[in-house]
Amino acid sequence: MKPNFLLKGHIVFSAAPDRLTVADHSYLVCQDGVCAGVFHELPARYAHLPVHDCGDCLIIPGLMDLHVHAPQYASRSLGMDLELLDWLDTYTFPAEAQYAELSYAGLAYQAFVDALRQGATTRACIFGTLHRHATVLLMRKLDTSGLQTYVGKVNMDRNSPDCLREADAVTALADTRRWLAQVAPLRNCQPILTPRFTPSCSDTLLSGLGILQRETGLAVQSHLSESQAECAWVRTLCPDARDYADTYGRVGLLGQNGPCIMAHCVYCTEREIQALQQNGVFIAHCPQSNMNLASGIAPARRYLQDGIPMGLGTDVAGGAHLSVFRAMTDAIAVSKLRWRLVDSALPPLTFAEAFYLATRGGGAFFGKVGAFAPGYAFDALVLDDCALPTPQRLTTRERLERIAYQLEDRAVRHKYVDGVQLF
Ligand code: GUN
Ligand code: FE
Repeated sequence: MKPNFLLKGHIVFSAAPDRLTVADHSYLVCQDGVCAGVFHELPARYAHLPVHDCGDCLIIPGLMDLHVHAPQYASRSLGMDLELLDWLDTYTFPAEAQYAELSYAGLAYQAFVDALRQGATTRACIFGTLHRHATVLLMRKLDTSGLQTYVGKVNMDRNSPDCLREADAVTALADTRRWLAQVAPLRNCQPILTPRFTPSCSDTLLSGLGILQRETGLAVQSHLSESQAECAWVRTLCPDARDYADTYGRVGLLGQNGPCIMAHCVYCTEREIQALQQNGVFIAHCPQSNMNLASGIAPARRYLQDGIPMGLGTDVAGGAHLSVFRAMTDAIAVSKLRWRLVDSALPPLTFAEAFYLATRGGGAFFGKVGAFAPGYAFDALVLDDCALPTPQRLTTRERLERIAYQLEDRAVRHKYVDGVQLF
């Protein structure tokens, strides 16, 4: 049994992609780890529950990071003057190769888990490396962290250095099955199949993972149409595929047989967008990574208009920051540049829409998560903005906007996941 209680404060959550619900001086009810509703006047049936009075603080749903690379946290902010493929070769692959050594992995992953736990993120979809033992170690740490996560042992058997490449598809698939058996007992950290991206995966490996997904129903995560050079490379590697998305779709790895997240989707064609939509694929929009690696600007407004499921990703270390608040404000900024410089028919994202992506939009990948509607998981953050004094009288929505831009995760005073208080 989880504790039942009330939080009292200024409550904000997404009612719809373009609409915030703000309830000042109100109560948020937690029953058995689930939200039972938001009330200005407390109904008598809840009057016996203990109240945690948050004073003048804001209370919002936990933030969702749909795409982050745990092994890259240790080397974040390096090589940010390179483009994607050069950055992978020069910095990222050598950095990930170090996770062959478990003592290194233990130190680096502890720092990652501590930082994620301390911040505003309550749930995340995470890439490990190809190393099975290091990935199991990461997952065990996450399983007891209080966070809810998916983690993938990365699959990659071509176009990478000897020190970071699986011997062949058969070896990679066998190791993936061993990994799944090892992590089966975990409850809060679940496995997700993770082909790194098409350039790193032979056709045999991708089709083997497709078979494994049909067999297990596990979720899948990967990268799609991130940079122009990458897309051109995929065309030469897979001349028979209709497009980049089809390199996953033709083996059943594009959401046909289970939940699927594709990161980036900067250069998707009309056919690819249709395929994503038909299969309910989640897009992880990673604006800071797309800037740092000069990848481009994803048409997030288009995806919202089409009703494609979407959330935000920090994509550390393509992104330099673990903060999903930062991903929100970057998403707004890049959408304004895209509108001004690329396509005036697609208006910029509003603050409410960026907040939606960070909470309810991404939360949908995990189930009823990311809002304070009745029946939703009780993932909540208590935000303190006393470090931002101002003589202005601000609305709660304005205070939230300033927190997102100025304080980011530093505003988080208390954090709850599934009704359990982490701090
Ligand atoms: N594509 C393949 N691997 C990666 C990675 O580690 N980061 C990013 N941003 N894109 C990738
Ligand atoms: Fe990535």
